[in-house]
Amino acid sequence: MRGNPEVIDYLNMLIGGELAARDQYLIHSRMYEDWGLAKIFERIDHEMQEEAAHADSIIRRVLFLEGTPNMNRDDIETGEDVITCLKADLKLEYHVREKLAIGVKLCEEKGDYVTRDMLRQQMSDTEEDHTYWLEKQIRLIELIGLQNYIQSQM
Ligand SMILES: [Fe+2]
Ligand SMILES: [Fe+2]
Repeated sequence: MRGNPEVIDYLNMLIGGELAARDQYLIHSRMYEDWGLAKIFERIDHEMQEEAAHADSIIRRVLFLEGTPNMNRDDIETGEDVITCLKADLKLEYHVREKLAIGVKLCEEKGDYVTRDMLRQQMSDTEEDHTYWLEKQIRLIELIGLQNYIQSQM
């Protein structure tokens, strides 16, 4: 089914962000694993798979709308320790959330309600799952201290 060209272009821009999120979680989860932090490794490995699933849904939607998926990913920011990794990931999630909100609005304007629902679902994952979890970790570190937090993630 031929889609609206503006919606297709926007979706292609979003793919870059999801692929960046996937790769940022890929490197951060492997760093956590290397540092012996099994618990946070598992969580971030799971986020990586969710970002791959987000990219996958958008890629499939672009193909369905008769567009050509753009596989260029946005730049990633790799942290150096637990705090900088968490903060870089949170920054990325805030950024993705903002872009999804604009996408939802665009789809609404163009009458593409199925794409809108897909993006709305990804917004919910972004806000209520990924962002919320990262905000909680940063708050926990402030509350119990970095050493205690790291010990809780071994
Ligand atoms: Fe995502
Ligand atoms: Fe996310």
